[in-house]
Amino acid sequence: RDSKVIAERLLEWYDRHGRVLPWRVPPGGGAADPYRVWLSEIMLQQTTVAAVKSYFERFTGLWPTVDDLAAAEDAHVMAEWAGLGYYARARNLLACARIVSKAGGFPRTREALQALPGIGPYTSAAIAAIAYDQPETVVDGNVERVVARLHAVETPLPAAKPELVALAQKLTPQARPGDYAQAMMDLGATICAPRNPACGICPLIDECDAHRLGIAATLPRKAPK
Ligand code: ADE
Repeated sequence: RDSKVIAERLLEWYDRHGRVLPWRVPPGGGAADPYRVWLSEIMLQQTTVAAVKSYFERFTGLWPTVDDLAAAEDAHVMAEWAGLGYYARARNLLACARIVSKAGGFPRTREALQALPGIGPYTSAAIAAIAYDQPETVVDGNVERVVARLHAVETPLPAAKPELVALAQKLTPQARPGDYAQAMMDLGATICAPRNPACGICPLIDECDAHRLGIAATLPRKAPK
């Protein structure tokens, strides 16, 4: 499989069909604001895109910068968070905003990002790729499924994880890694769906081993519980 062709086709598809979401910069719109990327990724950790949209708009309306959020009353932020659940996320959000505001901005490396409250390997990779255009690989459930299908990985999850991460890393392009990461998420959320993948309209149909073998809908396999 040619990683370069896969990244090119995927980015071309994303420019035309990627979801328009409030935390995204339109194609050619310049760099994403790390504050908005961070806030969206924290909200999206355990909540769906559809549910996050209005909360993201409300938070960024009330607190347009990390300094504004850092200066907010705890009770006000917790009240606005109500409904998103997992309140430890909101407490970490405020703690992180205060550290970042005091430091004069978000750090630029994955290591330094991961030292902040509420930021783990997934979120640090997402911020590095989307806000700073670093070629980091973002792997969530959607990406695992897309990669398992592209490479017809039949090893069941969770044992397949290291292999899927390694394959995902090989696919990550040097150019536009943030758009690429979000394109993988969009492909997984829309076309390369868990149950009925829409292979007929997939930009990667010619690159997909699982489709060629007729097993796309059966991947990724899961170990019996
Ligand atoms: N899920 C997590 N991060 C996302 C993003 N940036 N766009 C869409 N879905 C996501």
